[in-house]
Amino acid sequence: MTTQVSEKIKWILACKVEDVPDNGGSCALIEGEQIAIYNFARRGEWFATQNLCPHKKQMALSRGMIGSDGDVPKVACPFHKKTFSLVSGNCLSGDDYEIKTYPVKIENGLVYIGID
Ligand code: FES
Repeated sequence: MTTQVSEKIKWILACKVEDVPDNGGSCALIEGEQIAIYNFARRGEWFATQNLCPHKKQMALSRGMIGSDGDVPKVACPFHKKTFSLVSGNCLSGDDYEIKTYPVKIENGLVYIGID
C-alpha cells in the first residue's frame, strides 16, 4: 500500500512487516531520524510520522495509541495524549503543533518509507 506519493521520493527499507504490531507502531532510524511506523490493521493502512512529539520533545509517537477522528487516522502521544493526524500531521487537540508524515510502501513483506 502506498500513500502520499510524489515524484522525487527515495524509498528506504525500514523493517519487516512483522516488526510492526497490528494496530500499533514501531520506530526505525532512517537517515539519522527516528521515524514512527504504524500498522493500522483495522483500516488496512500503514502510516509513518516523525517519532518526536513536538509538545515536550519526547521520542514517543511510535508508542502512541492509534485511532480515528471521524475519517482521519490519528495517533495520541502516550505522554499527554495530544493527537496528530497520520495524514496531514496536524495537531487535532487544538494546539499549534505539526508533525512530519511520510509515505509508506509494503513490498514482499518489507516496509519502505519514502523520503523526499
Ligand atoms: S510529550 Fe507528547 S503530548 Fe506531551
